[in-house]
Amino acid sequence: MKYSYIAKSAAKLFWSGFNLPYMVMFETTLMCNMFCEYCIFGEEGKFNDLQTRGTRDRIFKRIDEFCEMGIFALSFSGGEPLLNPNTCDYIAYAADKGMWTSMPTNGLLIKKHADGVARLDMLEVSIDSLNVQRFAKRRGVDGLPRVIENLDFVLAKRKPYTTQINAAVNMENLQDLPELAEFCKQRKIVMHPEAVHNVMRDGELLPDSELHGKDLDTVEMFLRELRMSYPKNVRFYTHYYDFYRQGGFGPKFPCRHPSKLISMKPDGAIHLPCAFVTLHKSQAPLKEIFASEAAKKIIAQEATLWDFCKGCKIGCPYEVSAYTNSPMLALESGLNFLRLL
Ligand SMILES: C[S@@+](CC[C@H](N)C(=O)[O-])C[C@H]1O[C@@H](n2cnc3c(N)ncnc32)[C@H](O)[C@@H]1O
Ligand code: SF4
Ligand code: SF4
Repeated sequence: MKYSYIAKSAAKLFWSGFNLPYMVMFETTLMCNMFCEYCIFGEEGKFNDLQTRGTRDRIFKRIDEFCEMGIFALSFSGGEPLLNPNTCDYIAYAADKGMWTSMPTNGLLIKKHADGVARLDMLEVSIDSLNVQRFAKRRGVDGLPRVIENLDFVLAKRKPYTTQINAAVNMENLQDLPELAEFCKQRKIVMHPEAVHNVMRDGELLPDSELHGKDLDTVEMFLRELRMSYPKNVRFYTHYYDFYRQGGFGPKFPCRHPSKLISMKPDGAIHLPCAFVTLHKSQAPLKEIFASEAAKKIIAQEATLWDFCKGCKIGCPYEVSAYTNSPMLALESGLNFLRLL
């Protein structure tokens, strides 16, 4: 099922002249049950998007549309995706259709949804330290023992190297990473460290959490050495650090989120240009949206970007842009992917 879907998806992409989006970032809910100090969602009561009537059916319909268009991958993100009671039904629906599914989660609710979570092609659990106090400080909840218990519970249902630990890294937790890499090695899982960067949403910015100068060099060198010690477990793009130093997206390395990564909000609306800023939103059928003048105009602007993009270095759009902007990075990503199969 999956291989026939991948083949059909690749054929559609080829016939379109590689002009189709290939991934969806579905923000299942913007609510969260952790309060991470570097994350824009980590503020109690800030978002409230409890399901409204008709949302569930609308999302299933959207997944049908994604498959019709030949979109390869669907990422269930958030906020905390497992706070949406429908997330595992959506995962099962997309997986049954043959889409490649992934989901980052803070891990607090994994056990409750273990069978649904087990179906993901890639499960990403965010752990940035194995030090209980430091985890509690950074993530705003004293939840490390529960997250590890939940992770170990679901790992019994998953194949080796199909689970990833996402570790947001800065100087505070850098020295905790070797222990985390060893933890991953013992469990046959992957560690994906990501340098903490500022994340903006519709003009709102958290207090500055960027890495500067020597700190960024130190993080990069540390991670390179760690990857040499744990080649099967530690995965990150070395190029990301040059991209970071050069101030993120810009004309030399444009952001491909508008054309290649579809942003779908909890209510099923499609937002353009990206998940972080909305210039256009629509509940119209997908094909209609991408054929509209409004969408075409926005997509045509991605080569030069907008003023609000200045300094943006967000990881998910970076990865999608890396595949598109550079054949070398696409190759690196392909090799990374194969290592995970
Ligand atoms: C926004 S969260 C959503 C999913 C889920 N709540 C979680 O924590 O995995 C996705 C990932 O972004 C990371 N993240 C959030 N803010 C970040 C920042 N400012 N810099 C780097 N990574 C960040 C989190 O650690 C997490 O791994
Ligand atoms: S990183 Fe994830 S768990 Fe932490 S506040 Fe953000 S959305 Fe919530
Ligand atoms: S660079 Fe991309 S992800 Fe960042 S704000 Fe601009 S369009 Fe959005």
